[in-house]
Amino acid sequence: MPIVSIEDIGQHLGEEVTVRGWLRHKRMGGKIAFLVVRDGTGDIQVVVSKAGVGEPIFAETGQLTQESSLIVTGRVRADIRAPGGFELDATHLQTVHLVTEEFPIQPKEHGTGFLMEIFTPNACEGTTTLFETDYFGEKAYLTQSGQLYNEATAAAFGKVYCFGPTFRAEKSKTRRHLMEFWMIEPEVAYAELRDMMDLAENFLSFVVAQVLARRKEELKILERDTSKLEAIVPPFPRLTYGEAIERLQKSGNPIQHGDDFGGDEETILSKEFDRPVIIHRYPAAIKAFYMQPDAEHPGLALCMDVLAPEGYGEIIGGGQRIHDRQVLESGLTAHGLSKEAFQWYLDLRTFGSVPHAGFGMGIERTVAWICGLEHVRETIPFPRMLYKIYP
Ligand code: 4AD
Ligand code: MG
Repeated sequence: MPIVSIEDIGQHLGEEVTVRGWLRHKRMGGKIAFLVVRDGTGDIQVVVSKAGVGEPIFAETGQLTQESSLIVTGRVRADIRAPGGFELDATHLQTVHLVTEEFPIQPKEHGTGFLMEIFTPNACEGTTTLFETDYFGEKAYLTQSGQLYNEATAAAFGKVYCFGPTFRAEKSKTRRHLMEFWMIEPEVAYAELRDMMDLAENFLSFVVAQVLARRKEELKILERDTSKLEAIVPPFPRLTYGEAIERLQKSGNPIQHGDDFGGDEETILSKEFDRPVIIHRYPAAIKAFYMQPDAEHPGLALCMDVLAPEGYGEIIGGGQRIHDRQVLESGLTAHGLSKEAFQWYLDLRTFGSVPHAGFGMGIERTVAWICGLEHVRETIPFPRMLYKIYP
C-alpha cells in the first residue's frame, strides 16, 4: 500500500493507504475501537473493527497505550464530523513499539517548568572534540551537531531538519577542518539507512543542479570547470566499507580492516569516481555511539559517509540510529558515556520508538567542492581554525 502523510490523505479518497505514526488517544467499544493517530503532519481518526482487522489484531489494538508507535493500513473515507474531514477504516495494524511505562505528558495543562525538565546538554560526536564552556557555574558544551535534538523533534513531526553553526575542538590543521562550521541535518522517522542514501543522493544532485542553473556567472568568476558538476546526477556509486578498504589496498595504501579513513584515503577514493561516492557499513567501533548495528553483519553499523569527487572527501555523515533502548544503553557503555546525561535521549526509546535515520551535510566542505576551492577557509566569512580566531 502507498505510504502517505496524514496531511495528504484527502488525495486518496476511497483508496487503501498506509499511515505510520503514534497513538495520541484511544476509545474502545466491544467490537470497535477509535484511535487518534498522529504522524507529525496531522491527526486522523482510525476506526478499527473486529470484522475489519480480525480477532488477533483487534485484541492487540486493545493493548495500545498513548504514544505507542504503529503502522496502520486502511481505506480513506470522507466524514464531515471528523477533524480534517477524513477517517481511516483499518484493514491492518502493526504495533512498532508498545509503550509500557506511563507517558509523563498527559493531555492536560502542564507548567513549562515541567516540560523544560526534559532537556540536558550532551556530547554527540565523541567527547574529545567538545568545546567546554562555563554556563553560569554549570559545565556545558558548544554543540557538535543538532542530531540528538533532531531525533526528538522527528518523533514529533516525522520529517525535520536543522541548520546552524556547530563546533568541533579538532586539533586538525587541514584544508577540510574548521572549529566552527555550518551543518544542515535532516532526520526522518520510520526511515532506514537506504532511505538516507537515496535522500543524500537526491539532495546533492538537486543542490548542484540549482547552482548550475542559477549561479553560472559566479562559477565563471571562480573558473570552475562546470562539466564536472554536470556529471552530478543519480545514481551515485555505493561501496561498503569493506569494498573501499580493498580498493585502497589495491592502490598500495597501507590501510587495514578496522582503521578509519584519514584525509589521504578519502582523497584516493573520491578521485576514483566522477560523482560523489557513498561508503556504508563501517565498523561500529570507529563510529559514534548511536549507530544502529547491522543485524546481517555483526560488528558493522548502518551508517554512511558521502565523499565528494575530485579529491574533496567527506561532505556528509549519517545513517540509521539505534531505536532499541537496551541496545542504546550498551552503545553508551561501550563508548564510556554516562546513562544519566542521556536520560532524555533514552526516553525517546521508551515512548513510541521507531526506526529512524538522518545525516549531516557540512556546508563549507560542500561549497568548497562545488566552487572548486582549495581550502574551506575560503567558504566562510570568519573562519575559525586551529590558530586563527581573529577577527
Ligand atoms: O560526520 P559528522 O561528524 O556527523 C555528524 O555530526 C552527525 N551527527 C550528523 C547527523 O547525522 N545528523 O559531520 C557531518 C559533516 C561532515 O561530513 C562534514 O561535511 C562536516 O559535517 N564536518 C566538518 N566540516 C568542517 N570542519 C570540521 N571540523 C567538520 N567536522 C564535520
Ligand atoms: Mg563524519
